[in-house]
Amino acid sequence: MSVLKNSLAMSHEMVSKVVLPGDVVIDATAGNGNDTVFLASLVGEGGRVYSFDIQDQAISNTYKKVVERNYQDRVKIIKDGHQNLDLYVKEKVKAVMFNLGYLPGGYHSIATRGETTAEAVGKAMELLVVNGIISIVVYYGGDSGFEEKDYLMKFFSGIDSKQFSVAKTEFVNQANCPPIFVCIEKLFEK
Ligand SMILES: C[S@@+](CC[C@H](N)C(=O)[O-])C[C@H]1O[C@@H](n2cnc3c(N)ncnc32)[C@H](O)[C@@H]1O
Repeated sequence: MSVLKNSLAMSHEMVSKVVLPGDVVIDATAGNGNDTVFLASLVGEGGRVYSFDIQDQAISNTYKKVVERNYQDRVKIIKDGHQNLDLYVKEKVKAVMFNLGYLPGGYHSIATRGETTAEAVGKAMELLVVNGIISIVVYYGGDSGFEEKDYLMKFFSGIDSKQFSVAKTEFVNQANCPPIFVCIEKLFEK
């Protein structure tokens, strides 16, 4: 079995290393609800998942998946941009997941954007506990272009290295711009 996993699998592996039953976490891009139910399974009955998306289709797909698994008591689904997450999440969080781009099977024109993603990541960094992580899967190329990736890579490289570690994993020999995995870990509270 291959040890080098794709970006999505790497993000799940990293998040499952830090999230424990009872934790509070955020899915910043609910989409079809896969990451939301993954997080809900990790935090357990006593935990809490805040799940954000801006489009009705994503909200209803996520809601269906949450109800199917009977996770509705531990998941709060919010129809708003993740750049407003501070209006809804008032407690410290252990992990925040971003799976960027557009809704698979949905409109390609409704996609994440560099400026709003960076604003949301900045707010998530404030909410993180020490040793909490933000996982970001960055899609680029195709009809999502390079703008968001270029904007974010500049933003990530400017993050204070004393307070946060930021690592990037990318496949350098694959065709069709495979997604990049970025992980931010908080080292201490200011
Ligand atoms: C690649 S999908 C997410 C996939 C999802 N994590 C899953 O497990 O199925 C990206 C989602 O981000 C959403 N999105 C775009 N801009 C957003 C924003 N500013 N805030 C929250 N969600 C946003 C899109 O509507 C889309 O559903």
